[in-house]
Amino acid sequence: MKRTPLYCVIGDPIKHSRSPEIHKFFADQQTDSIHYEAKRVDEASLQNFVMNFFESGGAGLNITLPHKESAFLLCDKLSERATLSRAVNTLFIDNRGLLCGENTDGLGLVRDIVDNHGIAISNKSILIIGAGGAARGVIYDLISCNPALVSIVNRTHHKAEALAKRFNIKALEIRSAFEKEFDLIINATSSSLVGELPPICSAMLAPNCCCYDMMYSKEDTVFVRWAKQNGVLHTMDGLGMLVEQAAEAFFLWRGSRPTTTPLLKKLRGAR
Ligand code: ATR
Repeated sequence: MKRTPLYCVIGDPIKHSRSPEIHKFFADQQTDSIHYEAKRVDEASLQNFVMNFFESGGAGLNITLPHKESAFLLCDKLSERATLSRAVNTLFIDNRGLLCGENTDGLGLVRDIVDNHGIAISNKSILIIGAGGAARGVIYDLISCNPALVSIVNRTHHKAEALAKRFNIKALEIRSAFEKEFDLIINATSSSLVGELPPICSAMLAPNCCCYDMMYSKEDTVFVRWAKQNGVLHTMDGLGMLVEQAAEAFFLWRGSRPTTTPLLKKLRGAR
């Protein structure tokens, strides 16, 4: 008898993860049968867990904080975007038995902005605020959309410079960023978690500027609230990205692409 394929998201902490709910929704929608679990795995157990999971027939893993960089180091085969971002959120075994790593965060962000919100990225001047793992995971896909310019600013400038060098984009000092206008500003910092604003000022908002916070919460994040108060008409939070990055992982594993709109409606309705 054929076994139901097993998937799992691992991180530490993991209780908050919405991935089981999201993947169950996708599988039901496709009348596909999968098991999807969430497991807390600490750093010391990561390698053993991943190896045992696949050796015992596991079909695919999602990796969440804080393991995306460590999981990257375990992979035998990486996509170009995963190689550049030095982080993976999706693992699977290919037909040669190699452990493959992909990072679907950037694809998820782009799909959310372009498809769900109907905002073009091509020819736009984009500012990414933040230079941690969240920023690193999305730059490749933003560049792939042919924007006019991608700039990056960070509280700690040397980290922005290092990322700018790797991706061939422009690192701005905060005071220099404050003197420029952008069409799309993406908050890739974790500042919203502590209720703080990242480095931003209203002079940076070009006419029709759109603001995206990669974080999301029940209420507007501080960044989204600030953008609305400063007249930004199109604000977005990271819930759509969460759903879209999961849809990309589901597609990689199962070969069929879920329709995300019904789930997004459901999740937004429940907020
Ligand atoms: P992640 O992997 O989630 O991106 P990270 O690597 O710790 O997490 O990076 C967090 C990012 O948010 C960094 O760019 C950090 O700025 P620093 O490099 O200066 O630490 C940024 N960040 C966190 N809290 C912030 C705050 N209150 N204001 C501005 N930037 C903040």
